[in-house]
Amino acid sequence: MLPAPEYETAMNHFLDIHKTDPGALRGIIDQAKDMKQARQGRPKGAADDEQPLAGHMVALVFEKPSTRTRVSFDVGVRQMGGETLVLSGKDMQLGHGETIADTARVLSRYVDMIMIRTFDESVLLELAEYADVPVINGLTDRTHPCQIMADIQTYEEHRGSIKGKKVVWTGDGNNVCASFLHAAGQFGFDVTFTGPEQLDPEDEFVGLARKAGATISIERDAVKAVQGADLVVADTWVSMHDSQSSKERRHNMLRPYQVNDALMAHAKPDALFMHCLPAHREEEVTSAVMDGPQSVIFDEAENRLHAQKAVMRYCLGV
Ligand code: CP
Ligand code: NVA
Repeated sequence: MLPAPEYETAMNHFLDIHKTDPGALRGIIDQAKDMKQARQGRPKGAADDEQPLAGHMVALVFEKPSTRTRVSFDVGVRQMGGETLVLSGKDMQLGHGETIADTARVLSRYVDMIMIRTFDESVLLELAEYADVPVINGLTDRTHPCQIMADIQTYEEHRGSIKGKKVVWTGDGNNVCASFLHAAGQFGFDVTFTGPEQLDPEDEFVGLARKAGATISIERDAVKAVQGADLVVADTWVSMHDSQSSKERRHNMLRPYQVNDALMAHAKPDALFMHCLPAHREEEVTSAVMDGPQSVIFDEAENRLHAQKAVMRYCLGV
């Protein structure tokens, strides 16, 4: 467990998994499961029985492309009775020189909560510092906490508690990998990273997870890494913040870490496969694995909706 001063206190922002109290994180996952169960079989546009966001306006700000984050937040707010404004960073004055602090102060006069997907983490942190309303991290170059909340919900729906399980991250030690490391410390599971040294996860994040009691291993040999895995995870080899000119170099480094049937055969027979999507089929993962019996990729995508609804209730305290 991490020391208390690391946690958010004054307002319930949702900035990162390691900055959120472990009890609150568990509450979010449990509420997400309950809310999903409560609306089984309903049309997607049907309102939830409870309407905790009634009268609330939520701004969804995107400085990078998105399908899942955009749609799941928008639908989730509406199911809970709230309203959304979906904003593109480049169409706002934010993209034309207005400071983040001023943007935060202005948005706080109009909306009850802000979700932002941006590049540099400093934008998220400055927005949260100056906003009078909760701010949610919808992905930065460094982390993607909402994704991993959905992934934990998904793992537990299929296999029960994630505590003590072995998660193997393959490929690039990127933003999604970072949030898995944060979650390892908070939820008590182990992570093995397998990828080239040049793309190792940040030392700071590995250190945080170890300090919180998780076993974090680095194994360059993908076959050795996946032995005993309960969950194998892949992500794109070129993230939105990576330069396209680095693509060929990255692909050459990462090819040995493709998740295919041969690699999955070395994991536990009941191991699950996850990918946050969007995927590049036949690059970081084969279609045979993505569409195979161990894959839960579309459950992960669905659970973005349920997990984020619970995150928003936590942020607003409703
Ligand atoms: N996984 C994820 O965040 O997807 P989008 O980029 O489509 O939002
Ligand atoms: N690592 C990917 C995740 C996309 C949801 C990226 O940042 O582009």
